Amino acid sequence: MRTDYCGQNLVSFLELESTNFSAKELAKVGYPSGTLVLCDHQISGRGRRGKNWISHPDEGICMSLILRPKISPQYAARYTIAVALGVCRAMNTFCVDAKIKWPNDIVVGRKKLSGILLECAASSSKLDYIIIGIGINVNTECFYGDLSETAVSIRQRTGVKIERERVIAEVINASELYFELCENDFDTLMTEYRSLSVVLNQEVSIIKSTETFNGVAYGFDEYGRIIVKFKDESSQIFDSGDVSLRTKQ
Ligand code: BTN
Repeated sequence: MRTDYCGQNLVSFLELESTNFSAKELAKVGYPSGTLVLCDHQISGRGRRGKNWISHPDEGICMSLILRPKISPQYAARYTIAVALGVCRAMNTFCVDAKIKWPNDIVVGRKKLSGILLECAASSSKLDYIIIGIGINVNTECFYGDLSETAVSIRQRTGVKIERERVIAEVINASELYFELCENDFDTLMTEYRSLSVVLNQEVSIIKSTETFNGVAYGFDEYGRIIVKFKDESSQIFDSGDVSLRTKQ
């Protein structure tokens, strides 16, 4: 890894319930910023909004990064954006054209290649640590059930088996560069994010508990929330924690 701090401290397991859960335990006892927790087999991977993340032993990447950024808690979602860009840039090195579906799905076409789960521990004005969990489908040749319609792997796109260590290194190298922008140059971060967004300027449906809002994805704000414009020209901002998003096409 060509990093200053990310992944320099590596904690690797054969099997874990969830790398996010274990990373949180390590963060609580003081493991430093940049610690990367990895496992070969994740038994009950967690996704956003209570969903599961299913990965087959040795075929995918399950990892979580501990960070201790010096920004206020309301900006924590910027780190999801940074990692999403890091994953996309890393995918380019394997000739996979990955894009971002707000807030945290990395997609190729309409299928999901990677998911990111950010969890924070904060007191009122200070972030203690954040955990950024990253799942990537790497060498899976065939997905079954619903996943056959919705998931894709690097191998399926390229036709070749890839060493997971190489993918991990590329993702962490690229993400560290974007972390710098989270604190110091959010505009540049967002310019790149917009260029890789599959939802920007598209018709979207935002589902918030029992309500559905139909409009056009107009932009993203400084907290990483989505701004949706409606037919009557009014707009509303949605936080990723509360909603799920569907694109029309
Ligand atoms: C999502 O798409 O909803 C997020 C999926 C995040 C999955 C990763 S796999 C490694 C880390 N450990 C977990 O339990 N979840 C994340």
